[in-house]
Amino acid sequence: MHYVIGLLCLLAFGANAAPAGTDYFKDLPKCSTEEDQLGECVKEIFNTLTPRLKDGNPELRIEPYEPLRLNRTSFQYTSGTVNGRITIRNAKIYGFASNRAKEVSVKLTGDKVKLRLVTKMPKLNIVGSYKADMQVNQLNLKPKGDFNVTLFDVEATTVTDGEIYEKDGHRYFRLKNIDSKPKIRDLDIKANGIFADPELDKVALNVANQYWRDIYGIMLPETRQFWQPLMLRMFNEALELVPIDQFLKEQPN
Ligand SMILES: *[C@@H]1O[C@H](CO)[C@@H](O)[C@H](O)[C@H]1NC(C)=O
Ligand SMILES: *[C@@H]1O[C@H](CO)[C@@H](O)[C@H](O)[C@H]1NC(C)=O
Repeated sequence: MHYVIGLLCLLAFGANAAPAGTDYFKDLPKCSTEEDQLGECVKEIFNTLTPRLKDGNPELRIEPYEPLRLNRTSFQYTSGTVNGRITIRNAKIYGFASNRAKEVSVKLTGDKVKLRLVTKMPKLNIVGSYKADMQVNQLNLKPKGDFNVTLFDVEATTVTDGEIYEKDGHRYFRLKNIDSKPKIRDLDIKANGIFADPELDKVALNVANQYWRDIYGIMLPETRQFWQPLMLRMFNEALELVPIDQFLKEQPN
């Protein structure tokens, strides 16, 4: 009897010791490391995993990401006569689940990987609360409220380089740098609390929505130093959970 239980435990342990997510990823293609085929293969994996992982996977300790939750993020802004700090709280970002890769190219040199992705999502919606402390000329403004921003047709060209490394007998991929240039077709900004008077809020939002291209053009490079490391960290936290052996046909050298 003890022997049978021992054997069952061993079998159960053996099953758990198998590479995480073997079944979950079973249907995905195995990529050949030939450069001309690797890009297409990574694109297929990206486009299959993106919708699949949106609700997370407890077994793989992957958190759901639709919506993506950011508890607190702060941006410092300084330019000419305007400077201050904006803190975003309890932000929820909807839309990444419909992000799709259109073009992928991969360059593999030993364990170094260069990746270029063009991705497209129809809509990215960010809701949350904000609080700012700004100095505009001699004026100190402390707006505080909720916001709801929607970006339409977000096309991002992302260039990354990373490396393949080994841990516990498995190969993993980690990014070292990421550089993303998102372009959008349209932007819709809703917010309250900019001014004490709701009517003034309306006016401010009308202006903001009319001049969104200028605002976006200023905000994007200004905020890059904050969201780019955040992206890098989030990608690497996810990549750390999933060995890539199961996606590669052969050793990369
Ligand atoms: C964000 O807040 C939620 C609930 O308030 C909490 O469960 C979660 O651990 C927080 N996440 C981070 C990264 O701090
Ligand atoms: C944000 O705005 C979008 C588009 O106008 C709307 O569909 C959505 O329900 C709003 N979300 C919240 C939380 O108000």
